[in-house]
Amino acid sequence: MFPGLRHVLVAALVVVGPQAAASSTVEGPPLAPTPPMGWNSWNKFQCDIDEELIRETADAMVSSGMKAAGYEYVNIDDCWMAPQRDAEGRLQADPVRFPGGIRAVADYVHARGLKLGIYSSAGTKTCQGLPASLDHETTDAASFAEWGVDLLKYDNCNNQGRPALARYTAMADALAATGRPIVYSICEWGQNKPWEWAAQVGGHYWRTTGDISDRWGSMVSILDQQVGLESYSGPNAWNDPDMLEVGNGGMTTDEYRAHMSLWSILNAPLIAGNDLRSMDAQTRALLTDRDVIAVNQDWAGVQGHKIADRGDLEVWAKPMSNGGAAVVLFNRGVAGAQVATTAAALGLPARPSYAMRDLWADTTVVTRSRVRASVPPHGARMFVVRPGRLGSPAVATDVVDDTGGYAEPGETFSASVRVADDGLLPVTDVRVALAAPEGWTVRADGRTRVPVLWPGRTATVRFTITTPATAENGTHALTADVRHRGGRLPGYGAVSIATRPVGTPWLSDLTPVSAQVGWGSLGVDRSVDGHTLTIAGVTYAKGIAPHAASEMKYYLGTHCSRFTAGAGIDDETGGRGSVTFTVLGDGKVLADTGVVTGGQAAVPVDVDVTGVTELVLVAGVGPDNNNYDHSEWVAPRLTCAGA
Ligand code: GLA
Repeated sequence: MFPGLRHVLVAALVVVGPQAAASSTVEGPPLAPTPPMGWNSWNKFQCDIDEELIRETADAMVSSGMKAAGYEYVNIDDCWMAPQRDAEGRLQADPVRFPGGIRAVADYVHARGLKLGIYSSAGTKTCQGLPASLDHETTDAASFAEWGVDLLKYDNCNNQGRPALARYTAMADALAATGRPIVYSICEWGQNKPWEWAAQVGGHYWRTTGDISDRWGSMVSILDQQVGLESYSGPNAWNDPDMLEVGNGGMTTDEYRAHMSLWSILNAPLIAGNDLRSMDAQTRALLTDRDVIAVNQDWAGVQGHKIADRGDLEVWAKPMSNGGAAVVLFNRGVAGAQVATTAAALGLPARPSYAMRDLWADTTVVTRSRVRASVPPHGARMFVVRPGRLGSPAVATDVVDDTGGYAEPGETFSASVRVADDGLLPVTDVRVALAAPEGWTVRADGRTRVPVLWPGRTATVRFTITTPATAENGTHALTADVRHRGGRLPGYGAVSIATRPVGTPWLSDLTPVSAQVGWGSLGVDRSVDGHTLTIAGVTYAKGIAPHAASEMKYYLGTHCSRFTAGAGIDDETGGRGSVTFTVLGDGKVLADTGVVTGGQAAVPVDVDVTGVTELVLVAGVGPDNNNYDHSEWVAPRLTCAGA
């Protein structure tokens, strides 16, 4: 998958080339040979900032170990400036928030061996309506340099529709003219493909997307937008998927671990966005893991990319300058699962075995070729794999069941825990337990102890599980606990409880297994805007309105034979919007409408769903993106067994 290391080195030099030329007016070494690391006030504090916060953050960066881990820049985002320029037309610090001025803050930060970053916009005003630097580039860059600023984040608000290239070049030139080395962070939100030009104008990193927020969905959607950008990134010129949300409280620890793992392998600038003064030990551990940071800061600077995508399970990999490969096994789904790849797929040379270092657990095991691990829901595992033979054998666990993912309340099903020896030596005294939610019964079908597991072999321990009649709809974890002489590891699995559809129900009267909508909230028997469902002048009493891009999942459990509906866009868009509608049964396409446009009559859908466990309705965005995509499935009806 990956080019050889020599190729990698050449690629790195090629990326450095134009960069060095663009910033030639500032003498000295490149400012961002590895992705910059630091902190920024925006994600946690927005405009609620002052000089005390910045000073306390600098202190906390040192005392928390962040500085020792490599974090260097303390960045003040929007809202530091006074509402008016001074009599000479210079930006000035807000007299209430920063009474001592920026120079004093810079001195304070510098005295702690750290660097100061500041913010402005390539527009007439910042995003918060304060004075910004468009047409004031020379004056403002001179102020920043005079104050001792080391980094400028340059935003895109209020840009008057003027071309991005000219606006960002003007500030690059002004910064260069000051003679002070200032890292230039281009915050253009990816609107004009900055990856194609930002390095040439002297940007050290550039935002590739709109703003991140402290939610799983936001993080994952930004991740998806990084695919294909990897070749634009390299030493002194990095793609920026936006700042970290780790520690801000909107995601679970597993989710933050995935966020940190992925941003690290993407060579993202690691700019923490939490309150460093009060972070807990867990957050600090996530932000300061040396092995994880070492992947991000690897001197060859080759950005990791997605090498496998199997629905919710993804593999991201990055070649390391030591001849190894970093890998993130990523599970974006709500069910724990094993994620697997191989040393060959990671681009490693053929060898008898490989050492696999678990970067978060700080353990090293030996594998013959498989690189696999059980990954919790919304989670990630991260490894560096390199040729090697010292260490205990890699043991892989996996929890699988015979339900096809679903069980009904009261149903009995089988689940198996598979334990594999991926290493070179036998694993002994393997003991397997499986835990299900409270009120479920779990019975082992046979022995749960395996005295010896030989290299290359898999032991399977079967369990019979009975769900209570009161089991609630939703996804429930089945977690294996596997112990052996020399280790203990979890296995993550899950089963979803869903209620069987009976008779001829309207889909809008059933609870979906999951509902993802691209905008607004799901309309049930109403349009997205809350009106009566109306397509091309025809009104419908029943239907669902999931704005594209959307995915609706329903449990049929092989009890149904037919699904009928109409697919179209609500008249409330005034004839605008375009959507493609697809019906999938257990992953197979059963119907596909092609592009349906606003104003067009509902396209009839009539499919045979015999034997289908899971019905998925997808509304994909048409050629004009998701604007006005008020997609609807009208009169959606199932024909199922029973009355
Ligand atoms: C924009 C940027 C954010 C932040 C805010 C400040 O939205 O993309 O990162 O700087 O402005 O107003």
